[in-house]
Amino acid sequence: MSRYLRLGINVDHVATIRNARGGDHPDPVRAALAAQRAGADGITAHLREDRRHISDTDIDRLRREVSLPLNLEMAATDEMLEIALRHAPHAACIVPEKREERTTEGGLDAIGGHDRLAPLASALRKRGVRVSLFIEPDIRQLDAAKSIGAPVVELHTGTYCLAEGATLAAELERIRTAARHAERLGLECHAGHGLTFDSVGPIAEIAEIAELNIGHFLIGEAIFGGLDSAVRRMRALMDNACAASLGERSA
Ligand code: PXP
Repeated sequence: MSRYLRLGINVDHVATIRNARGGDHPDPVRAALAAQRAGADGITAHLREDRRHISDTDIDRLRREVSLPLNLEMAATDEMLEIALRHAPHAACIVPEKREERTTEGGLDAIGGHDRLAPLASALRKRGVRVSLFIEPDIRQLDAAKSIGAPVVELHTGTYCLAEGATLAAELERIRTAARHAERLGLECHAGHGLTFDSVGPIAEIAEIAELNIGHFLIGEAIFGGLDSAVRRMRALMDNACAASLGERSA
């Protein structure tokens, strides 16, 4: 028996560095192609309302020039829905978005946002786009995601990544419990935000998780050792964690 955990590489912050000077270097499409050669299974990009990193042209080029599946992270707005329907990426992950935040700071409120999110998810599904909702590892949010009609959830790992000691153990347990609940509901379970070489192992060991999306840390590591080596090391850590989890199950 084997288990394969997919790795999506988020190239947003290649565009952040490019935009610091204008021009076209470094190119997020080149980063996506390098990530593909290093073993990535997908490319993730967040087209933010304020276009602070990824641009409309980047999305167009990622779609045309990169053969890996594209996961478009998007806010639940009419503008983003129109863009997603036009490009029909492999997947769309709906995230909460506030202009003033530095990064996505938490999961969506799938309970309070049900009436807005359900028609949006339905329009994307009809266009053949795999819809996921980025939510907190919370049973009620998972139940709401199911009732919205999203086939996939991405669990927010940001709180776990920042936690220490007993809080860290509690956060990890929350993610484990949520992943098991997702499986019971028939939802595919992904996870991401803030993951590093140090924090990825325990998350990758969770058997119900099918995909991780990782960006900021890897783009930062690429400054020191190159993107190829950073992605390969993350891939190896994930593979080792998967093997360890299977060993535990069969022991
Ligand atoms: N998943 C989602 C839904 C995100 O919004 C982000 C950040 O854009 C990531 C994963 C990747 O997070 P990080 O860049 O911290 O690895």
